[in-house]
Amino acid sequence: MVGRKVGIIGAGAVGATAAYSLAMMGTCRDVILYDIVPEVAIGKAIDIAQAAIYSPRGTIVSAAETPADLKDCDIIVITAGVPRKGDMTRADLLMINAKIVKDVVENVKIYSPEAIIICVSNPLDVMTYVVHQLTGWDRNRVIGMAGALDGARMIYQIQKKVGFGSGRTRALVIGDHGQNMIPYPEISAAGGVPLTQLLNQEDMEEIKEKTKDGGAEIVKYLNTSGYYAPGRAIAVMVEAIIDDSRIVMPSSVLLDGEYGYKDVTVGVPIVLGAKGVEQIIELELDDEMKAKFDISVKSIEENINILRNEGFFD
Ligand code: NAI
Ligand code: 2OP
Repeated sequence: MVGRKVGIIGAGAVGATAAYSLAMMGTCRDVILYDIVPEVAIGKAIDIAQAAIYSPRGTIVSAAETPADLKDCDIIVITAGVPRKGDMTRADLLMINAKIVKDVVENVKIYSPEAIIICVSNPLDVMTYVVHQLTGWDRNRVIGMAGALDGARMIYQIQKKVGFGSGRTRALVIGDHGQNMIPYPEISAAGGVPLTQLLNQEDMEEIKEKTKDGGAEIVKYLNTSGYYAPGRAIAVMVEAIIDDSRIVMPSSVLLDGEYGYKDVTVGVPIVLGAKGVEQIIELELDDEMKAKFDISVKSIEENINILRNEGFFD
């Protein structure tokens, strides 16, 4: 059985919100925040710990002041990173965040060698690949969070469109966590009723576009990316692992022949439980979906190759 000690590396907006969400649900025994800026982790840990006083099940929320203080965690969430700034290219950002993730992973290997890692840092699928390469761990222990968030964003759009289905709508988004993500309304449902029976093609297309735009829409209003939905999505994944609840959750995982691909991380439905990835579910994709999935996989491979060509993995 997996333990209940969770470390969150990167106590920024997303990491702290995940900690808050976990503390409110009370599934974990310990939530420990670490940040390269120790004051950020310490201050937020105090604040969240004081909020947890009123949660029904006790969770101890604290800060790790050094990587060594983040010891023997059962689950590690990586939310460390820097946002893209004005003069940075995507490739610059890719290299900067890859180096941050490398830094983080080296410490995780030393101090929490048995952990399951949930990678959140962007670009998500590539950073999840980086974690795989640098840990060399079994692929069930390294999972990228994206489908949990993109699926929630899609459900939000479906419910807005149909006007009902609250709490009982299910939706699936596969592929990369970027412009080539593939919302899949054809196999989504409101309370078990297939969306194909509720919406016309035009509505479905609108839902797909709005789902893909879900992150950008928030940036437009806040000038920063969202953190409540990402934080909750992380917490749901952590809870599924701790409770061994074996929910089906699209997540970025390393493929080894599934869907016809190898050595690439991409979002597909998985069964999430105490071992992390308990199973990868292979959907039967029609030709159109196969083509979309291929474009999505290639866009991830392109970025992995940028890192490879820069000698990052040498
Ligand atoms: P943020 O800027 O608020 O927080 C990032 C934190 O990481 C900062 O506090 C920073 O000091 C810390 N940090 C930087 N280098 C570090 C290191 N070496 N060790 C420990 N901490 C370090 O950013 P935010 O909004 O919390 O986003 C975090 C990451 O998550 C970003 O890469 C973002 O793009 C990504 N993200 C991914 C989502 C997904 O669906 N996968 C959804 C939302 C955000
Ligand atoms: C999001 O989708 C930035 O990946 C982040 O909001």
